[in-house]
Amino acid sequence: MEKTVLISGGSRGLGKALSDLFFREGWNVVAFSRTATPSETRNGKATFLVRRADIRLERDMVELTNMIGEKFPTQKLLVLNAGAITPSRPFIESDVGDLRRLLETNVIGSSFLLSLFLELSNTIGAVHITSDAATHNYPGWGFYGSTKRAMDHIIANLAVELKGKVFLSIDPGDMDTEMHRIAEPDADRSLLKSPDSAANEVYFRIKEALENAGY
Ligand SMILES: NC(=O)c1ccc[n+]([C@@H]2O[C@H](COP(=O)([O-])OP(=O)(O)OC[C@H]3O[C@@H](n4cnc5c(N)ncnc54)[C@H](OP(=O)(O)O)[C@@H]3O)[C@@H](O)[C@H]2O)c1
Repeated sequence: MEKTVLISGGSRGLGKALSDLFFREGWNVVAFSRTATPSETRNGKATFLVRRADIRLERDMVELTNMIGEKFPTQKLLVLNAGAITPSRPFIESDVGDLRRLLETNVIGSSFLLSLFLELSNTIGAVHITSDAATHNYPGWGFYGSTKRAMDHIIANLAVELKGKVFLSIDPGDMDTEMHRIAEPDADRSLLKSPDSAANEVYFRIKEALENAGY
């Protein structure tokens, strides 16, 4: 059956690489971010829509999910990829306001979108792009890691609440992206994965999980 994926944060980094890959694989793709230039591309039967929207704004998410419901009567998957980060910093030097800002994007905005998405017809699941900072304690990464852990927990709970659909969190590993530059400007970039190679690994994990669930 025809499939559509909604990807948050599709303008660069992993989200862009994943959007392009899903489209090449024949999926309809709807990708959004705050700075995206709206566009529509077709490849045979598949459509690739880019929209400008902010995951923290409820009206943007309502508009986006309404559009998807009307335009794509297909099976639908959500990839929660958009993420916020701050430069890594020890807790005692941190501004707790940063935690609020990270929660707004990484947990509240993502959860609100997820709740709207699951009201659409033919949803087959949701994938959260997580981080090893959710499960490991690295100095300076407490705020970011706790937001990723919170979203992992919500996704894992959905897996037991809505059996038959696919809910999983996938850690793409350290990638050479703007987010990584903000968090660790002095990192050796030659040790980081390209977003394209991380996208291949993430796509394979998603495909395998969907096939195992019969989609
Ligand atoms: N880079 C790493 O090493 C690494 C490691 C583990 C996990 N991750 C995770 O991988 C995911 C992708 O990260 P990345 O490294 O590819 O980051 P990135 O290059 O900074 O891309 C982040 C994407 O999210 C979008 N975005 C940010 N805030 C948004 C908002 N409020 N509403 C809508 N879109 C928003 C950005 O576009 P706009 O600015 O246009 O909104 C951009 O398209 C994140 O969830 C991150 O936590 C990254």
